Amino acid sequence: MLREAGFHVTEWTEVRPMTADELIQLAKEHDALLCTLTDKIDAAFLNACSHLKMISQFGVGYDNIDIAEATKRKIAVGNTPGVLTDATADTAFALLLAVARKTFFNHKRILKGEWKTFDPNKHLGMELKNKTIGIFGMGRIGIEMAKRCAGAYGMKVLYYNRRRNSVAENELNARYVSFDELLRSSDIVSAHSVLSDETRGIFNGEAFLKMKPTAIFINTARGGIHNEPDLIAALQAGTIWGAGLDVTNPEPMDPANPLLQMENVAVLPHIGSATIEARSAMARLAAGNLVSFFKSGTVPHLVNPTALDKP
Ligand code: GLV
Repeated sequence: MLREAGFHVTEWTEVRPMTADELIQLAKEHDALLCTLTDKIDAAFLNACSHLKMISQFGVGYDNIDIAEATKRKIAVGNTPGVLTDATADTAFALLLAVARKTFFNHKRILKGEWKTFDPNKHLGMELKNKTIGIFGMGRIGIEMAKRCAGAYGMKVLYYNRRRNSVAENELNARYVSFDELLRSSDIVSAHSVLSDETRGIFNGEAFLKMKPTAIFINTARGGIHNEPDLIAALQAGTIWGAGLDVTNPEPMDPANPLLQMENVAVLPHIGSATIEARSAMARLAAGNLVSFFKSGTVPHLVNPTALDKP
């Protein structure tokens, strides 16, 4: 799409993120950047590359980009919302089932030659029917996760969000509760919020202590929302029952992380949007944002509208 629109495109093709210096050097030779969550677009980068006209994020989350600093420099920032909603909600739902039935752990038992017989009493999971799902961050993805849980298992839906969500309340009978009540009353707490100063590390030891000892914590949003050492300790102590993570802190996760050996834990390597449909649509939106900006000065999915204000 970009080449067809007449752009000169340089692609980074190595299977590792660029270093800060490499990113600056390449960005200096270009008018715009199409980047993703592993690219750190901080004040230092923006100082060095204040000539950029636009930054197009391949992804819906943009916590890797210092939006205030970009806006100050009148750099438009675009993202790709909407098209990865179902894929990410499916990932959260898949993790929930995987934790409840210990599927990752049981798969590893086969690989290790530990499947010797049918055992009536070992490695028992839990059923999900009529449980209560607590959604932390009732946005596009949160509501789709809630729909899956309500539709498949008749779950009651609680949610905590910056704002009330009338669609969730009307269509799913979701009840708006405080963060404390979400923790105390949910059988499953699933995180779908952005990573911000308000949400960073909010799922810490104190939060896990408020959850039920039978509770499952799911995070498909950003690893920074949970405190990982606290999560490990909570699982080891039986403060909560299980966890399913598509995002970790840090990423990539150290293969020696104890979470990977736990019976009631399922971890995926940040694949929430990794379907052919979602990734293709994200690519089209990310490229479309750039094409539109340079053709008409408008960005269909613009994160920082004031960047386009005339001085
Ligand atoms: C992926 O994590 C995204 O924010 O799109």
